[in-house]
Amino acid sequence: PFNLHKRNFLKLLDFSAEEIIYLIDLAGQLKADKTAGIEKQRLKGKNIVLIFEKDSTRTRCAFEVAAHDQGAHVTYIGPSGSQIGVKESMRDTARVLARMYDGIEYRGFDQETVEELGKHGVPVWNGLTDQYHPTQVLADLLTMKEYCDKALTDTGFCFIGDGRGNMATSLMIGAAILGMDFRLAAPAELQPKPELINKYRKLAEHSGARLSVTEDKQDAVNGVDFVYTDVWLSMGEPQSAWAERISLLRPYQVNQQLMQAAGNPKVKFMHCLPAFHNRATKIGEEIYRKFGLDGLEVTEEVFESPASNVFDQAANRMHTIKAVLVATLSD
Ligand code: CP
Ligand code: NVA
Repeated sequence: PFNLHKRNFLKLLDFSAEEIIYLIDLAGQLKADKTAGIEKQRLKGKNIVLIFEKDSTRTRCAFEVAAHDQGAHVTYIGPSGSQIGVKESMRDTARVLARMYDGIEYRGFDQETVEELGKHGVPVWNGLTDQYHPTQVLADLLTMKEYCDKALTDTGFCFIGDGRGNMATSLMIGAAILGMDFRLAAPAELQPKPELINKYRKLAEHSGARLSVTEDKQDAVNGVDFVYTDVWLSMGEPQSAWAERISLLRPYQVNQQLMQAAGNPKVKFMHCLPAFHNRATKIGEEIYRKFGLDGLEVTEEVFESPASNVFDQAANRMHTIKAVLVATLSD
């Protein structure tokens, strides 16, 4: 019903509710087909290239597995090892790669870079920029659909934490387009700029979405189906900002008390990952040494609780990215 052939996937703002739902439904179908062992390869003979100026586990692996499942070949270009940025501009790189590949994935810094890449005749997919992480939102919406026996328009969720990051922004846009009940809980300093909130409220008027932005976390989680958080310092932000971020965001940690404040025994915890829920990482250990904190945006208790569906969410990255590849690339 929707022809997304040759379309870029750069940000959710470029898509209608119907197109986003179509991608989520296609992902559900592809997931069921793979599980049943009846997946049809629709990308045979296609070549795609993945450019990562920032590191990745999920997004890279999701693109690679999705492409392989569908019969396409993949080249990976990491943060070092190519001419990009050192000897060659993104614009020149795009004009080279568009002549060899059928599609380009890009993860990096400024959204403008991926928008520029998208002007050279082959579909370009945004694998995360400083501003947006649209493929993550597709996976999150599929996960919400699977976990909640309500229509997405009746589903309520709260994002708590850094309200200016790529996840808060992308989730708010997704909720606004689809007509969901979305609450953002963040300290005043880390709430989205008023002009952006107004822009998303315009989308909400059209879709019937309810968007609220507040410092009051108890109020924000009241009655929600999902509590969602992300790291307090995103890739590309200076490590020197940790002290300030921690002092602003400590009251916004997802812990058992907050999960209970939802007043919904079925409430689920979501996180795009990677998460700092203990000190089992290099940065986690450093945070523990400097600030005495064993876990940041979420406690170990919530992360490991039955309410946590973060690994199903991660698995859905592959199925939703596959849907984007099939929809934009297959003949
Ligand atoms: N959620 C996500 O994008 O993870 P990666 O950084 O591992 O790709
Ligand atoms: N906000 C995080 C998301 C990681 C998937 C970041 O940009 O680092």
